[in-house]
Amino acid sequence: MKKVVIDLLKNELKMKAWAARGIPSEKGTGVPSLSGKIENLLEVPPSGEMGDYAFPCFALAKSLRKNPMEIAKELAEKLRKKGLGKGMEGVDFKGPYVNFFIDKKILAEGVLKSVGKKGFGENSSGKGKNIVIDMSSPNIAKPFGIGHLRSTIIGNSIWKICEANGYKVTKINYLGDWGTQFGKMIFGFKKWGNEKKLGEDTIKHLLEIYVKANAKEHEEAAREEFKKLEGGDKDNLKMWEKFRKLSLKEFDSIYDLLGVEFDVISGESKYNDKMDAVVAELKKKKIVKKDDGALIVDLKDEGLGVALIQKSDGTSLYATRDIAAAIDRKKEYKFHRLIYEVGQEQKLHFNQFFKILDMMGHSWSKDCVHVAHGLYLGEGGKKFATRKGKTVFMSDILDDTIEKAKKNLMAREKLSKEELEKRAKKIALAAIFYGDLKNSRENNIIFDIDRFLAFEGDTGPYLLYSYARASSILRRVKLKKAMKIIDLKKEEIKLLKKIDGFGKVIEKAYNQLAPNLIANYCYELAQTFNEFYHGCPVLGSAEEGFRLKLVDSFRVVMKNGLDLLGIGVLEEM
Ligand code: ARG
Repeated sequence: MKKVVIDLLKNELKMKAWAARGIPSEKGTGVPSLSGKIENLLEVPPSGEMGDYAFPCFALAKSLRKNPMEIAKELAEKLRKKGLGKGMEGVDFKGPYVNFFIDKKILAEGVLKSVGKKGFGENSSGKGKNIVIDMSSPNIAKPFGIGHLRSTIIGNSIWKICEANGYKVTKINYLGDWGTQFGKMIFGFKKWGNEKKLGEDTIKHLLEIYVKANAKEHEEAAREEFKKLEGGDKDNLKMWEKFRKLSLKEFDSIYDLLGVEFDVISGESKYNDKMDAVVAELKKKKIVKKDDGALIVDLKDEGLGVALIQKSDGTSLYATRDIAAAIDRKKEYKFHRLIYEVGQEQKLHFNQFFKILDMMGHSWSKDCVHVAHGLYLGEGGKKFATRKGKTVFMSDILDDTIEKAKKNLMAREKLSKEELEKRAKKIALAAIFYGDLKNSRENNIIFDIDRFLAFEGDTGPYLLYSYARASSILRRVKLKKAMKIIDLKKEEIKLLKKIDGFGKVIEKAYNQLAPNLIANYCYELAQTFNEFYHGCPVLGSAEEGFRLKLVDSFRVVMKNGLDLLGIGVLEEM
């Protein structure tokens, strides 16, 4: 419907009358240049009395050097005189705004029809372009952290949002599987390792060993083991491979539960043998300099401090591997954008190596983005990772959440064991995913699982519930009645417009790489549906056919919206 309004405006503004006044026009369109395209200027007024769309005349006022109120009046009168055509009910002006009123029946028909089409709300602006997302990326032999959980959940949603905008996306899990810590682990495992424990509880066992091996007295021996590993020592490599394989197995059970998949499982180790070439290039281009035996890049003039490229013992570093990985990814995927979904505590690291890539002459470094997220805090806003000095394991957090969801469900109704399991899992995941994604990702959030799990309020379970309620209405229908629109009530119009706005939100969520816009939209959609449901009886009403269709459209959009967040729905709850 918006398009009809845009076309009316474009047509009107193109008229010779404007041109005759010598007003510069936008390239090729003949439309007076506006400091923003008409469609971006068009607003949706807060209340229906001011029309369904409003066009502010400030930008025109600037290029026409004329009072915006006069322009609004003139435009509205001209449009009215000419006749608005199909789909429009009227046009008016108020202050500097031209207000458009849409024929609500046509709005209703248009919206309901387009929701029925595949991919409603999606667009193809990214067609033919590749995006790479570096996401999740836990460190092997270490617990899967709460930050990795955020990266997994947010990265997963950003992937879906990019695809809904037409991009082709490759999701890479870039494991922290290389570095001096493996010297410690290998040293420790040789001394205290237990194969059986390693197989049964890999990460717990390796963590125990790591803590012991981390003591100052073992430093030298651990360094030796890492040098051997980097040098390709067979035994050390074999041990490292086993740590990697078994750690990944443990991570996979988390990914399975979360329902998140990757296109590529990579890791820092992949770039071990590409280090020398990077260092050589950095030397040749005189980007690095020696500092106490180490190699550094001085970025102080950029306000980015000093980046360490090679340690004095010749071993490589996180940053060096990231440089090699980015170059490799550009070659392989010819990406339009390379997105790193990583905690904001690594901001400096990303800014440093993006800058170094630029200094190396890779102009595409501007296409690399660090999409940062804030911290997860425990109750009372304290740091999450430790509880009485003990490490919290992600699988325990997820299991606890599912158990709590089960308790909540059991208090509500009696269910078969199977159904209870199924629902509790979906509800727990919706709680965690939504509890995270509803926030602007840069913010720190408090991991308050009881609040996340509540059935009322701005929560995942509440959204699942509103979806299930719509499903249950549709299940109760025995006979399908013809769709008849009699007179639209304000709750219906509001819901139709909300549904109509889905596409714009998908676009915006991509432009800002902000899943919270989708999450917030879903919540507003649920609330708008609630208002409709309370204000307009569905079953047995004269408008039953139309209202059922509206309920169904709500269901479709809610399902798609939640899917963009990585949340699966329940038909019954
Ligand atoms: N493994 C790292 C960590 O846990 C995150 C890696 C992020 N990706 C990257 N290309 N640096 O902190």
